[in-house]
Amino acid sequence: MLVASLLPNGIGTGLGHRTLPLRTIGTMDDGDKVRRRTLLAGAGVAGLVAAGTGAAGAVQGQPGGELRGQVALVTGAARGIGRATCVALARAGADVVALDIASPKAITLDYPLGSAEELDETVRAVRSLGRRAVAVKADVRDAGRMQDVARQAVREFGRLDIAVANAGITTYAPLDAMSPRQFADVIDVNLIGVANTMRAVIPHLVARKSGSIIVVSSSEGRHGAPRLAHYQAAKWGVIGLVKGVATEVGPAGVRVSGVAPTGVRTPMVLNDATYEWVGGTTVEDLERALRGYNTQPVGLIEPEDVADAIAFLASPRARYVSGTVLDVTAGASTRWNS
Ligand SMILES: NC(=O)c1ccc[n+]([C@@H]2O[C@H](COP(=O)([O-])OP(=O)(O)OC[C@H]3O[C@@H](n4cnc5c(N)ncnc54)[C@H](O)[C@@H]3O)[C@@H](O)[C@H]2O)c1
Repeated sequence: MLVASLLPNGIGTGLGHRTLPLRTIGTMDDGDKVRRRTLLAGAGVAGLVAAGTGAAGAVQGQPGGELRGQVALVTGAARGIGRATCVALARAGADVVALDIASPKAITLDYPLGSAEELDETVRAVRSLGRRAVAVKADVRDAGRMQDVARQAVREFGRLDIAVANAGITTYAPLDAMSPRQFADVIDVNLIGVANTMRAVIPHLVARKSGSIIVVSSSEGRHGAPRLAHYQAAKWGVIGLVKGVATEVGPAGVRVSGVAPTGVRTPMVLNDATYEWVGGTTVEDLERALRGYNTQPVGLIEPEDVADAIAFLASPRARYVSGTVLDVTAGASTRWNS
């Protein structure tokens, strides 16, 4: 089933492609049958998309199921690190609310954003592990919409335990050559969007007196490099959010942490603009440059490498890890103190 087939734009299947107000959505219960729902439409973004449960049996292919019974919200879930995170959390037993802007041209970039089809593929991957999944088309820049989604997640799944603020974008330009729009887009998604995600989930985690928020920063949030000052401002900024918010919600039993990856093999960097940023024209040029940056003998790491670190931070094994950001940098972090 394509996610796009349930968008409230005239094409549709399932519930007759009606867009329902949030309050009319019923409870999503366990069962073998795939359930499709159209949820709310937010201002400027289409409504939610598809929901389903896989077989309600054992979680396949995962050791222990240490997140069994928990519910995770992951932003930027259509592909890349977000999709790998949904899969890693599902392997550990979590049900997943997979959120993405799912609109390739929604922001002017040198590469397309994730699509509805890619988001649907994430949902399918989670469901194939026997976990429940719902795909939500939403923009992390829309604070009200994020709060609606968090409330909806709790209503649909009964609880919310984990939030991964992963959605992000990038462009490349020196600060003085960058348009105000270009600067604002990166700050709006990568910093404000992370704050919106945190603000949306905090009341639900605090109410349960447990839970884990994980933000995706970057090695660019640890140092400086040319033509990325806006991105670095946002990625340093989300580390500030981790530090500050951890002090606010820690007494209520909620943990806040982050990951700071080196270059990861995703569409965000597999494009000409990134190759040009390292003075090259191909992915081989990018990998060569990153080999000179990383300490371990690797150029790009894989999304699953980052997802595993996120799954650890979400897990009870990290129960006393909060207010910290884990470098997943193949040793590039030897360059800085953190
Ligand atoms: N790829 C890397 O080298 C790398 C390195 C360090 C950190 N990161 C960070 O990892 C995170 C994930 O990036 P990725 O590499 O998987 O990139 P990606 O482009 O493959 O995936 C990002 C996803 O976020 C979604 N998204 C973008 N703006 C959104 C918005 N406003 N609302 C909702 N969803 C939105 C996109 O549609 C896309 O599906 C980002 O925060 C990025 O900055 C990436």
